[in-house]
Amino acid sequence: MTTARVAIVSRGAPLTVRDAAGEMPTDGPLVDRYGRVHDDLRLSVTDRCNLRCIYCMPNEGMTFLPRAQILSFEEIVRVAAVARDLGVRSVRLTGGEPLVRRGLRDLVERIAELGFDDVALTTNGILLAPIAKDLAAAGLRRVNVSCDSLRPERFEAIRRRGELEVVLSAMAAAEAAGLTPVKVNVVLLRGRNDDEILDFAAFARDTGRVVRFIEYMPLDAQGEWDRDQLVSGREVVERIEQVWPLVPVQQPGDPAPADRYRFADEIGEIGVISTVTEPFCGTCNRLRLTSDGAIRNCLFSDAEHSVREVLRSGGDDEDVAMLLRRAVWGKLPGHGINEPGFLRPRRSMSMIGG
Ligand code: 5AD
Ligand code: SF4
Repeated sequence: MTTARVAIVSRGAPLTVRDAAGEMPTDGPLVDRYGRVHDDLRLSVTDRCNLRCIYCMPNEGMTFLPRAQILSFEEIVRVAAVARDLGVRSVRLTGGEPLVRRGLRDLVERIAELGFDDVALTTNGILLAPIAKDLAAAGLRRVNVSCDSLRPERFEAIRRRGELEVVLSAMAAAEAAGLTPVKVNVVLLRGRNDDEILDFAAFARDTGRVVRFIEYMPLDAQGEWDRDQLVSGREVVERIEQVWPLVPVQQPGDPAPADRYRFADEIGEIGVISTVTEPFCGTCNRLRLTSDGAIRNCLFSDAEHSVREVLRSGGDDEDVAMLLRRAVWGKLPGHGINEPGFLRPRRSMSMIGG
C-alpha cells in the first residue's frame, strides 16, 4: 500500500493533511481519499432550458441530449434511494431548468418520500409560480431562484429570454407556498451587472431573500469565460461594506459553498460563492448525477461513472452503491482552476447540473 500525503489547499475546515491512500471502504458513508464525507446529492433532471443566459449557453445552436439517454424518474429515484442508504442527507434538483421536465412534481414527491433532511430545487423561476404550492405539498422544502439583474431590459439582455416580472412573481409565490428562505442566485459579470451589487444588497434587505453572488465559472457552453469578466466574492463584500457593515455568519466546517454574511443591523443576509478565487474544495460534500445518468464527483472534473449503464444492464442496488463509492473515492483534492494545466470540463454547466 502506497501512502501519498496531499494537502487540500482551500478555504474552510478541515485544512488537514490526510493520507491519500488506503482501500476504498465497502461500508459506511461515502468518503473520499481525503476524508471528505459526501452527503449532498445534486440530481440534474434535464439538460434543456427555456432561457439562454449568456454565461451558460449560446443563443442559438445549443444541442441537447437525445431523450433515450435521459434517466427516467424510476431510475433517478433508484439512485437517490441507494445514495440515501449510503448516508446522503440532502438532495437538490437542478437542470438545465428542472421545471421544463414534465411531471417534476411527481419526482419531487417520490424523492421526498425517501426521507431526506432537505429537498431543494434550483430554478430560473420562469415556470415556478403556478406550481410552487404543488411542489411544496409534494415535499419540496426550498428553492434557489436565479436572477442576474433587477432591471427588466438588462435581465433580458443577460438571460435572452424570459421576463424579470415573472421571476419576481415566482419568488413571491415560493414564499407564499412556504418554500423559504428563498435564495436568489446572481452571477456577476464585469461591466454587465456589477453596478447592481448594492441594488441587490438593498433587495436582500427589503425582501428578506438571501442574495448569493456567484463568481463566473469556466462552465459556459461557448467557451467564452475569461477571468477579466469575473467579479470576486471579496470585491462584492467590500463594496457592500462601504454602505452596510456586514458580519460573517459563523459556519465552522459547514460544507455549504456560500460564505454567508448578515447585515450588522440584523436586517437580511447575503452570501458569496467564490468558487474560482477562494475554492472551497476542502469541505466539498457534493456528488452529482447528470440527466443522462453519469455520476460526477466535481463540476470541474471530466471523470464520469455511468450509472445508466449499470441500471440498464440489469445491475442491482449493490452495483449502484459500488459505483457511487468508486466515484467518490476517485475525487481529486481540488478543482485546479487556478493551476497552469487546468482544462475546462468538456460538459458545460447546464449539461452537468448546477
Ligand atoms: N458560472 C457561474 N454560475 C453559473 N450558472 C450557470 N452557468 C454559470 C457559470 N458559467 C449558475 C446559474 C444558476 C446555477 C445553477 O448556476 O445562474 O444559478
Ligand atoms: Fe438555463 Fe440556468 Fe443555463 Fe440560464 S443558467 S440558460 S436558466 S440552465
